[in-house]
Amino acid sequence: MNDRLLRALARQAVDRTPVWLMRQAGRYLPEYRETRRQAGSFLALCSTPDLACEVTLQPLRRYDLDAAILFSDILTIPWAMGLGLEFVEGEGPQFRHPVRTRADIERLGVPDPEDDLGFVMEAVRTIRREVDGRWPLIGFAGSPWTLATYMIEGRGSRTFGRAKRLLLEDPASMHRLLTTLADATIEYLRAQVRAGAQVLMIFDTWGGVLTTPAWHAFSLAYMRRIVEALPRGYEGDRVPVILFTKAGEGWLESMATSGCDALGLDWRTDMGVARARVGERVALQGNLDPSTLLASPACIRNEVKRILAEYGSGPGHVFNLGHGITPDVDPAHVGACIEAVHEHSPAWHRQG
Ligand code: CP3
Repeated sequence: MNDRLLRALARQAVDRTPVWLMRQAGRYLPEYRETRRQAGSFLALCSTPDLACEVTLQPLRRYDLDAAILFSDILTIPWAMGLGLEFVEGEGPQFRHPVRTRADIERLGVPDPEDDLGFVMEAVRTIRREVDGRWPLIGFAGSPWTLATYMIEGRGSRTFGRAKRLLLEDPASMHRLLTTLADATIEYLRAQVRAGAQVLMIFDTWGGVLTTPAWHAFSLAYMRRIVEALPRGYEGDRVPVILFTKAGEGWLESMATSGCDALGLDWRTDMGVARARVGERVALQGNLDPSTLLASPACIRNEVKRILAEYGSGPGHVFNLGHGITPDVDPAHVGACIEAVHEHSPAWHRQG
């Protein structure tokens, strides 16, 4: 198997820097748009294991990537909790039954991953069968705080007014919600590992909107609880965990003490500074600005070279974007990015 990703996450020597891209399967690919059209909707695509497997493999057929990532979404957990998820074209996710009161929070149960989210587990098993021996498979979940923002607001938000108000006015209810979400996420990620996921990533997309003390108490504390509860030796394999807090540059040291193996960095973080701060404890993943992919291949190459040089020599770097690929990106530019990593990273791994 291509084990570059697993080796880099363990900070072991590799021949070149492994590369995969957040949202590597998605609307920028014409074959994705075609499969989604056949499925009828994004949620139908997520809940049909064979189609979820097909779109997972699409970027791997086009590009020489070093990992497959499960095609699904972080909002499957609140969906399974009965909040009524819809994706409105051009508007993103919306919940028909947002969580607003203490009673709403107390009513939420922990979904059974094999029953209520069986389609995700079946997708993991199908994908693992298809990719086995070629690429490691990454499973994932959202951070409890990030899920809570969507559940409370009922949709994406700019200011997170309702979620922050609940956190400040009724912290006990917020903790109750986050505890339920952490319990659900532990069950969900354990089941993904049983089904065949070999690496796990936690997306704390909205952690960075909190104050420092609130992020520690309402986001990091629950991610730490999840990491501690995950199988660290299932069938002899250690399952590495990547923690990604978008806009979390100020908190790298705290993230690195959560028990995770790697930190995902957004594009604002300087890779060299991050390595000096936490590179002795964890691997680092990132962090090309996704908008770079809109510029010419020559510009993309320069930015890839800059990031590789910022990280410097030796293992422990996984090349990625600082956030997901946007739908307006030319697939040829994604190819240029991956080729630049292949071309320029080996020099940073030569020993002696
Ligand atoms: O990275 C991958 O290729 C794996 C699949 C994946 C998706 N969503 C597919 C998806 C992963 C890992 C996610 C995670 C996710 N989902 C996050 C965390 C990462 C991040 O982007 O910050 C969040 C916040 C969500 C919630 C979500 N799902 C939003 C806000 C949206 C709408 C925005 C958008 O890009 O359209 C989605 C939809 C979504 N999830 C799409 C895909 C491919 C687009 C759906 C479509 O085909 O229309």
